[in-house]
Amino acid sequence: MLGHAITIQEHLKTAKKEMDELKGVDSGRLLIGVVSTVNYFAARLLASFSREYPKVELKLDVTNRETLLRKLELNEPDLVLMGQPPSSLDVDAADFMDNPLLIVAAPDHPLAKAKRISLSSLIDETFVIRETGSGTRLAMERFFAEYDFTPQSTVEMAGNEVIKQAIEVGLGLSILSAHTVDLELSANRLVRLDVIGTPIIRRWYIAHRSGKRLTPTAISFKQFVLDEGERQSKNTRKKGGAKP
Ligand code: PGA
Repeated sequence: MLGHAITIQEHLKTAKKEMDELKGVDSGRLLIGVVSTVNYFAARLLASFSREYPKVELKLDVTNRETLLRKLELNEPDLVLMGQPPSSLDVDAADFMDNPLLIVAAPDHPLAKAKRISLSSLIDETFVIRETGSGTRLAMERFFAEYDFTPQSTVEMAGNEVIKQAIEVGLGLSILSAHTVDLELSANRLVRLDVIGTPIIRRWYIAHRSGKRLTPTAISFKQFVLDEGERQSKNTRKKGGAKP
């Protein structure tokens, strides 16, 4: 049975490859625009796609949300990976994966081990925040508004990397996507504060301008990302819930 199963699988793979060749999926160019936070998993996605379609010429453009929206408006990228799709633009968007946002601090922060911290008790902390135009910044502002919270002091920095370094050396707290701090959390270079209302769960979307005619390669990439998202959610469910 195993032998038959392997043969069937091989035939299916060959059939799919031949179909892709007919549709022209296995060649061509693909310009993918991503927001800076997606960059933390985009390379992995593109690498697996490229293993499956080695002849496709891939180009990855990384910017913050505001710049990405401008490019989307000009219809430049074939597809974009981003947070909340804009209401100001006509786009076709499909969500594919959770984007949990966490409040992070240096490991020696006095509240590092505290449970169920209220946001209002962080009023005297310095928050290191992303630049205007960042989707993470927008999500943070929405969260603060929901809790009627305004931190007494903020320091603005452009990009996730510089913020992580600032938090590690004890400049303050920050709200960042879990995708950007995975490594630092497991190496105990940063800790997640257990603040009520967090993680803030958002979703990642794959999108393009409405009415855009997607190339067969772009259609395959979109399906690939949706399948990958489905696989990730199944793994998370198996492990017992959203990764904070
Ligand atoms: P950003 O976008 O990298 O510009 O913060 C992230 C998002 O849209 O969630």
